[in-house]
Amino acid sequence: MYFSTTFISVLVSSSAVFARPNPISNPSYGPVPGQSALYNTYRGKAPPFPATFPSAVLPTKKGPPGPDDLLFQNLLSAEWIIYSFYQTGVEVFNASSFTAIGMPNNTYDRITEIRDNEAGHLRIFQDQISATSIKPGKCEYDFGVGTDAELFLAIQLLLELASMAFLTGLEYQAKSQFTHGALLAIAEVETRHNTWALDEIWRTGPFSGPSDTVFPYANQILDSTNQFVLPGSCPKENPEFPSPSQHLPQTSYNDTTSEGHPGDEITFIFTEPENQPHFDEGKDYYAVFFHSVSNISVPFDTKTNCSKIPSQFDAGRGLIVAVIADEVGAPTEESVVAGPALLLQQPEALTATTGKS
Ligand SMILES: *[C@@H]1O[C@H](CO)[C@@H](O)[C@H](O)[C@H]1NC(C)=O
Ligand SMILES: *[C@@H]1O[C@H](CO)[C@@H](O)[C@H](O)[C@H]1NC(C)=O
Ligand SMILES: *[C@@H]1O[C@H](CO)[C@@H](O)[C@H](O)[C@H]1NC(C)=O
Ligand SMILES: *[C@@H]1O[C@H](CO)[C@@H](O)[C@H](O)[C@H]1NC(C)=O
Ligand SMILES: *[C@@H]1O[C@H](CO)[C@@H](O)[C@H](O)[C@H]1NC(C)=O
Repeated sequence: MYFSTTFISVLVSSSAVFARPNPISNPSYGPVPGQSALYNTYRGKAPPFPATFPSAVLPTKKGPPGPDDLLFQNLLSAEWIIYSFYQTGVEVFNASSFTAIGMPNNTYDRITEIRDNEAGHLRIFQDQISATSIKPGKCEYDFGVGTDAELFLAIQLLLELASMAFLTGLEYQAKSQFTHGALLAIAEVETRHNTWALDEIWRTGPFSGPSDTVFPYANQILDSTNQFVLPGSCPKENPEFPSPSQHLPQTSYNDTTSEGHPGDEITFIFTEPENQPHFDEGKDYYAVFFHSVSNISVPFDTKTNCSKIPSQFDAGRGLIVAVIADEVGAPTEESVVAGPALLLQQPEALTATTGKS
C-alpha cells in the first residue's frame, strides 16, 4: 500500500498512528527464515532484518496468550543477547583481527554467517509469539570484549554451550509438539556453531561424548545471561527476563584453586555481593552436577563453600552444570538455592578461565 507524504503527516498528527502496528507483528513481513539468503550470506556490518526493528512489539489482538508465548518471549530476549554478541563482533572486528591471532582466514566470515543465522532466530521466535502477546525488543549489552578477538572467541563458545543447555531445559516447558521440534532444530544449529569453533578455532576434537548436557531449569541459565544486559536499558514494554525468575545467587568457582574438571575439589563463589545465598545451620546442602543425561550429588560444605566434582564424568567432554541444592538430585526448581555454574570441559585451553565470566 502506498501513502502520500501528506496523508502520512495527517496520520502522524492524529492518535490513529499509535494504533498502527509495528510491521514486525505481521509474520509475513520481511525475509522468511529458510527462504532467504539474508540469514546465511549477508556480509554487511550494518544490522540485518529484523534487528533493524529493535523496539518491543505490542500485541495487535486482545485475548489469552498462546500456549508457548511465555517460552518464546524468554527465548527471544535471550536471542537478542546472542544475536547482539555476534553483531558486536561483526562491527568491531574484521578478517585481519582473527588472522592476526593465528585463526583461519575465514573466521570473520563464519562469525558473520553465525550473526545471520542468529538474526533468523530472532525472526523465528518473533513469529512464534502470538498476536496477543508482546514481542520483547532489544536492550543494550556489554560483553566486556572490547577489541580482544581472542576473548570474543572464548565467550562465543561459552554462549553457544549455554544456549545448547537452556534449549534442553525449554523442552521441559514446551506445550506444542511443533515447539519441541523447533527447539531441537535450533539447538542443532547452535551445536554446529559450537562444533565449528571446537574444530577450526580451538583445533580440538569436535565431539562432546554420547550426549550433551540435559539441564531442566532453563530459566536459571537464562537468568545468568542477564550479566550482559546493561541495567535499565531494555524497552520499558519488555516483560521481565526471564519470566518467572527465581533471582538465584549467580554462581561461579574459584579458578585459581580448581580447573573445574571431574575429580577436582571446587570452591564455589557467589558473584553478586548483594545477592548471596543463605544456608540454614544444621541443614544438608548438595552440589548437584549435571553432565550428559544424568546428575550426581555431592555434599556441599557451607563452611568452606567447597565440594568435589564427580570423577565418574568423562574427562574433557562438553559441559558440566553445577547447582547448589537443599535436596539430593535437585528434583525441583525450588530445591536449587544457588547457581547454575557452567563448567566448560572443552576445549582444554579454555577450561581454566571461563568460570570467571
Ligand atoms: C581491520 O581493522 C584494523 C583495525 O581497525 C585496520 O587497521 C585494518 O586496516 C582493517 N583491515 C581491513 C582488511 O579492513
Ligand atoms: C585462506 O586459507 C586457505 C587455507 O589455508 C588458503 O588456501 C587460502 O588461499 C587462503 N585465502 C586467502 C584469501 O588468504
Ligand atoms: C581463590 O583462591 C585463592 C587462593 O586460595 C584466593 O587467594 C582468592 O582470594 C580466591 N578468590 C576468590 C574470589 O575467593
Ligand atoms: C561461603 O558463601 C557464603 C554465602 O555467600 C559466605 O557468607 C561465606 O563467607 C563463604 N565462605 C567462604 C569460606 O568463602
Ligand atoms: C537427578 O537424578 C536423579 C536420579 O536419577 C533424578 O531422580 C532427578 O530427577 C534428577 N534431577 C533432575 C533435576 O533432573
